Amino acid sequence: MADRKKLTTATGNPVSDNQNSMTAGSRGPTLLQDIHLIEKLAHFDRERIPERVVHAKGAGAFGYFEVTHDVTKWTKAKFLSEVGKRTPMLARFSTVAGEKGSADTERDPRGFALKFYTEDGNYDLVGNNTPVFFIRDAIKFPDFIHTQKRNPATNLKDPNAAWDFWSLSPESLHQVTILFSDRGIPKSYRHMNGYGSHTFKWTNADGESVWIKYHFKTDQGIQNLTQEEATRLAGEDPDYATRDLYEAVARGDYPSWTMYVQIMPLEEAKTYRFDPFDVTKVWPHKDYPLIPVGKMVLNRNPENYFVDIEQAAFSPAKIVPGIGFSPDKMLQGRLFSYSDTHRYRLGTNYELLPPNRARNEVNNYQRDGAMRFDENGGGSVNYEPNSYNGPVESPEDKQDPFEVSGMADSVSYDRDDHYTQPGNLYRLMSEEERARLVENIVNHMRPVKEDIKLRQIEHFRKADPEYGARVAEGLGLTAAIEK
Ligand code: NDP
Ligand code: HEM
Repeated sequence: MADRKKLTTATGNPVSDNQNSMTAGSRGPTLLQDIHLIEKLAHFDRERIPERVVHAKGAGAFGYFEVTHDVTKWTKAKFLSEVGKRTPMLARFSTVAGEKGSADTERDPRGFALKFYTEDGNYDLVGNNTPVFFIRDAIKFPDFIHTQKRNPATNLKDPNAAWDFWSLSPESLHQVTILFSDRGIPKSYRHMNGYGSHTFKWTNADGESVWIKYHFKTDQGIQNLTQEEATRLAGEDPDYATRDLYEAVARGDYPSWTMYVQIMPLEEAKTYRFDPFDVTKVWPHKDYPLIPVGKMVLNRNPENYFVDIEQAAFSPAKIVPGIGFSPDKMLQGRLFSYSDTHRYRLGTNYELLPPNRARNEVNNYQRDGAMRFDENGGGSVNYEPNSYNGPVESPEDKQDPFEVSGMADSVSYDRDDHYTQPGNLYRLMSEEERARLVENIVNHMRPVKEDIKLRQIEHFRKADPEYGARVAEGLGLTAAIEK
């Protein structure tokens, strides 16, 4: 016992008994003056923080990003400034709709959230394993997520709500097709690609900009689970993907992804055949080929899950000079939502928590707030401008200016082709893949009301007549759609 440390209270006072509470006589009631008992229970009572409103179940690891190709003609981002340069990073992968204890093998998009600790501060790329999304305007996000979560009356998952919303929001068809395809259930977080999904802007040292899209291709190869395997694992090992990532990193089998970008000159965006900022569409590879940039390697497990992963706060609003936003209406909404939820979920000083703390020097005039646990700026000047040598702005780091025009109004995207790209995806699938896609859709749609089924089949038909016909047949509705 002599070499073991003394147990203490949170204030460092020795604890004399951690097994028996203090009572008035051996059979009497417990005394309020057992301050160790009170503190122990009170802290336990507050152990849970709100889970993420989406992407609650996840796993993460630390690693690095290494530049393998020179991209300085497109961006001045310092972490991409030379071949061979390594930047430390954190990645968190997740499912979207399930709660923190839900099964990893659900059919659901997977989150692909990255934080690069650069010398210009943190750069977060908060993407998914899909290149597109179900909707393209942030104003629809809360409604969409309500259809993915639990029915307010039954507290059950509700396929009727999901297909009601999707059939009334045909822009979802592309992502719906990916979701019910083989890639809708990745075998593990290591065996899936990641995409920035939105269009972003890169700006070089001469102030010239291009539009870009990010692709992270898994070096482990794409592998997926069948619906049957996923259903079995949800019972046998609901933490299957969490375990897989942790164990791979622990045994030194470090997962990696190769990062590519697609690059579109700013001028081409004005005349391209569809809106390049519409997140329900991909840029076809033959128009904009993949250009290699670097490699991301995950080689260190978190030491404490709550500290490093649960408290991690990723936000698409965290950018560095050389990288900018696009007018994508989803991205614009996300720029507000993440830091807002972090202030609620983690508190106003969430940026000081270990996984969120920048690795470069942070100099600003923010002070105080709940749980300010660093030196809070000490005695240094806390206003600006000042004549006391406080930190000053750097105009050279300004976002490049861009032109806007038009009437301020609530308007939809101007070209409404919801069908060509889902159809292209259907047509590139093998016969076996198409059969599994249709089977997955049919099984999920079975409990849905008939009018909703018929409305959705119309969308499948418009993408590809065979796609619609096969879903209709599977649901026994061939006669109904031919009426
Ligand atoms: P390409 O033939 O050049 O690309 C096809 C892409 O489809 C590849 O990236 C392939 O990924 C991916 N893919 C294959 N099966 C699936 C699936 N079940 N779910 C999602 N992606 C899959 O053609 P285009 O660039 O013209 O794109 C055709 C269609 O491919 C698009 O409409 C879109 O649905 C899909 N796609 C396109 C992407 C893009 O950025 N252009 C990215 C991802 C999908 P891999 O090479 O890794 O096998
Ligand atoms: C998590 C909002 C669209 C990827 C979250 C969270 C919110 C949110 C509030 C919880 C964050 C937290 O508690 O830390 C939104 C809104 C969207 C949107 C309002 C649309 C307007 C998207 C899209 C993608 C995406 C299009 C991918 C391209 C993610 C990921 C996470 C996440 C990966 C988990 C981050 C982590 O691992 O901590 N989102 N989201 N979201 N979102 Fe979104």
